Amino acid sequence: MSRILTGIQSSGKPHLGNILGAILPAIQLSEQTGNESFLFIADLHSLTSIKNPAILRENTRAVAAAWLACGLDTEKVTFYRQSRVGAYHTELTWYLSCLTPYPMLADAQSFKDNADRLADVNAGLFIYPVLMASDILLYDADFVPVGKDQKQHLEMTRDMAETFNRTYDETFVVPEGRIDERLMVIPGIDGQKMSKSYGNYIDIFLPEKELQKITKKILSDSTPLETPKNPDNDITFKLFSLIASESDTEAMRQNYLKGGYGYGHAKQAFFEVLKTRFTKERELFNYYYEENPAALEQKLQEGEAKARVVAAKKIADVREKMGIS
Ligand code: ADP
Ligand code: TRP
Repeated sequence: MSRILTGIQSSGKPHLGNILGAILPAIQLSEQTGNESFLFIADLHSLTSIKNPAILRENTRAVAAAWLACGLDTEKVTFYRQSRVGAYHTELTWYLSCLTPYPMLADAQSFKDNADRLADVNAGLFIYPVLMASDILLYDADFVPVGKDQKQHLEMTRDMAETFNRTYDETFVVPEGRIDERLMVIPGIDGQKMSKSYGNYIDIFLPEKELQKITKKILSDSTPLETPKNPDNDITFKLFSLIASESDTEAMRQNYLKGGYGYGHAKQAFFEVLKTRFTKERELFNYYYEENPAALEQKLQEGEAKARVVAAKKIADVREKMGIS
């Protein structure tokens, strides 16, 4: 049995790109037999950038509701907020900090990206990789699926585990990264990578009218309705093909090629398939986010209780090994 663990920043309501590119693949992985999964919301990491408590709370709720809406099964996956497990994550961060050389952290890309404005780098951002290592090592994770941008953090985690094991005694599992090299890039409504920071995203949880409004805004050229069109150059077609069935995608391709089919038709078809493909997800998101936040809170608290048992045991072992028990 392998233990798989990964963390998600609480950076706001997930969009179609996050859902197709990250959430659904992670849920699929958690459903493979023989794996035990830990999935958590890295709200302590988000504190390095978010200073507004209402926003942090909302983001965390929206992220949690989206994962549950997309089918995360809390019977199979231990699902929790990092901040609510107890102080174990931050406690281990201190212990590992005392073993981590300054140059290793100064070499982190997440730090170097900001190194030209040092006055804006808080100590939390600087030791971000140590908190991430703690998240992983506390739970004896074997595999950590992450995007390419997190590869260096994973290498640092392995380094910290090995240093601890060498300095004290065999304590931590040295985890392996599962780096997704061929991340699917979902385009936004302007054709660039869909991203919160570009304001080009599709929020599949919007009420129908607003969802339709967004789909109407997808960028298209000015080819007249009658003229045949190249589906492979078109954003609406690309988005449609990502969620529609093969046969519906082929039918739309033929419509583009033969002419007499406008972008307005394609956008309407995309809106329809968004609604049908994500009916259950939209309902569940509404349930957890709007109608019954107490149910969401309960699921998280159950996950936190399970996580706490594992983390507490590990910390007891760590304290003992370090001579502070
Ligand atoms: P954003 O760019 O909207 O801020 P994040 O950087 O928070 O998104 O990404 C969260 C997760 O979603 C990551 O695993 C990332 O790889 C995935 N993701 C984000 N945008 C896309 C996209 N356009 N296509 C595929 N996956 C994406
Ligand atoms: N740093 C990760 C990111 O920005 C999130 C994260 C925090 C994480 N702790 C983790 C990912 C532990 C994997 C394991 O995406």
